[in-house]
Amino acid sequence: MPASWSVERYTRLAIILHWIMALNIAALVIIGLLMVHGGLTPDTMFWLYQLHKSIGITVLLAAVVRLVWRLSHRPPPLPPTMQPGEKTAAHAGHIILYAALFIIPLTGWALVSSSVFGIPTVLYGLVPWPDLPVFSTLTDKAPVEAVLKTIHAYGAYALIALVALHILAALRHQFLLRDDIMARMLLHWGKSRL
Ligand code: HEM
Repeated sequence: MPASWSVERYTRLAIILHWIMALNIAALVIIGLLMVHGGLTPDTMFWLYQLHKSIGITVLLAAVVRLVWRLSHRPPPLPPTMQPGEKTAAHAGHIILYAALFIIPLTGWALVSSSVFGIPTVLYGLVPWPDLPVFSTLTDKAPVEAVLKTIHAYGAYALIALVALHILAALRHQFLLRDDIMARMLLHWGKSRL
């Protein structure tokens, strides 16, 4: 590693948002799979659906904040030891992750809005959340809901694969390349900028 390279961290806000997203996505995948394939009682399913919708909308709102942060801040530079192809792959991966963090929650929201059951969404049992009018006012909701369910499910499976790659890349940098890339996203309170 050249002597001129020193690890510049992400800001505190970016680091906090990153880990909130990571925990919430893990929870959404587990809850999503359980509620669709778990064979649970109707009461438990209802509760899990509401929790899934609440966390999913939280992720959507956090993605908006994250995107605003990203557009208004320059992220720390990648180390000079990375090949141009690797840097392009890293950037492409991050753009796809950002896109997924919008597309998957939006398809979830759209599928709930086009549901034939019309069950209201109340975030964390406290805040009523509206349906998307374009979908809630459809005359024939069932086929639209079915398509959105498929897109949402396959989008979520693709996200699981993408997150797995993201984690493997971070571990490769930490333990094989030892270039401290992973440390940029870890909170060291005294060392992180706001
Ligand atoms: C990053 C955000 C999200 C992730 C990773 C995610 C993940 C998942 C997963 C893994 C499933 C199970 C899919 C299957 O195997 O069929 C699922 C189902 C579902 N999700 Fe999400 N979800 C997200 C956001 C949302 C949001 C924002 C909503 C609604 C406001 C939502 C509503 C639903 C509903 C209603 C189902 C059940 C669909 C069915 O009955 O087939 N999701 N989600």
